[in-house]
Amino acid sequence: MNEFRAYRIHQEGRDVRAGLEWMRVASLTEGDVLVRPTWSGINFKDALAATGAGRILRRPSLNGGIDAAGVVVESADPRFAAGDEVVITGGGLGETLDGGYAERLRVPGDLVVPLPAGLDAREAMAIGTAGFTAALAVHQMQRMGQRPEAGPIAVTGATGGVGSLVIDMLAGQGFEVEAVTGKAEEAEYLKRLGAREVLLREEIDPGSRPLESIRFAGAVDMLGGPWLAWLTRCTGFFGSIASIGLAAGPGLETTVMPFILRGVNLLGINSVETPRELRLALWQRLAGDLRPRHLERIVTAEVDLDGLAGCFERYLAAGVVGRSLVRIG
Ligand SMILES: NC(=O)c1ccc[n+]([C@@H]2O[C@H](COP(=O)([O-])OP(=O)(O)OC[C@H]3O[C@@H](n4cnc5c(N)ncnc54)[C@H](OP(=O)(O)O)[C@@H]3O)[C@@H](O)[C@H]2O)c1
Repeated sequence: MNEFRAYRIHQEGRDVRAGLEWMRVASLTEGDVLVRPTWSGINFKDALAATGAGRILRRPSLNGGIDAAGVVVESADPRFAAGDEVVITGGGLGETLDGGYAERLRVPGDLVVPLPAGLDAREAMAIGTAGFTAALAVHQMQRMGQRPEAGPIAVTGATGGVGSLVIDMLAGQGFEVEAVTGKAEEAEYLKRLGAREVLLREEIDPGSRPLESIRFAGAVDMLGGPWLAWLTRCTGFFGSIASIGLAAGPGLETTVMPFILRGVNLLGINSVETPRELRLALWQRLAGDLRPRHLERIVTAEVDLDGLAGCFERYLAAGVVGRSLVRIG
């Protein structure tokens, strides 16, 4: 294939424009593994990048898409050979490297994960960065000793990609989940994924004391800002809060009281820079004990490269439920 199609983003000062373009392999960012992506997906970060709502690209122009799954075309890295099925999430795709919204992708071998047995490329992208991040959060909480017997886990941003997948995984691990959402109409969806309770954001009184009555044994937070602060104040003794996102803002105003009086752990979750050994182990868990049980329910949309441009705006308006898949080629 001499030329292939790519959804390319150009960032010039404050202006961002994006759309389908023809390009050649030689123009792709450097890497030793050339991949033919078959599926990608859409994450909040993809929407920030494609619309310019957030400054995600650290180069003037890149192909979008922080995730890809597909087949190796050729490899200078001896760990991979033509025909291998692989998955790549985060690692700088769509930020410093050309991303997965393209019929060809060239990446450093260290970012490439062999598709684990038991998952196909479409399932791997239904999981994507969202599911990888959810798995990382569950893994780190468990490492810190979070056990179902301690009590319920709050999940904010519940209907989004990470939220849907983390609810599914936590429930699968035996935890009671209390899903926090702005979408009353999606209560049934959240319960089907495994949430025991659905809390509406507008009905929550976050209080303002340094410590509130204990309400949760732990939490997974996609929102940041006042919602993360609220979680620090009402999480119980030695509970862990996985801080994943900033959909409601990057700020965090709290006190040290939750940490020094209740022993609460605030766990930072970074899915982009996850060391390779942990990345490989988490993909094994994603195909094993953390494999989402409701993937088909969580996939709520499927588009191809031609339909991609119209998909991003609703991510910025908290309008997303579940995961959108992108069929490539
Ligand atoms: N740390 C990491 O490595 C990592 C990895 C992946 C994602 N993230 C971050 O995690 C967050 C969620 O990612 P995602 O891909 O799951 O996003 P998503 O699919 O777009 O879901 C975001 C959800 O958050 C809720 N929300 C509440 N206020 C919002 C607002 N002002 N704007 C947008 N959404 C709002 C909505 O759910 P409800 O209506 O149910 O509340 C929305 O559906 C993002 O901030 C993302 O950047 C971080």
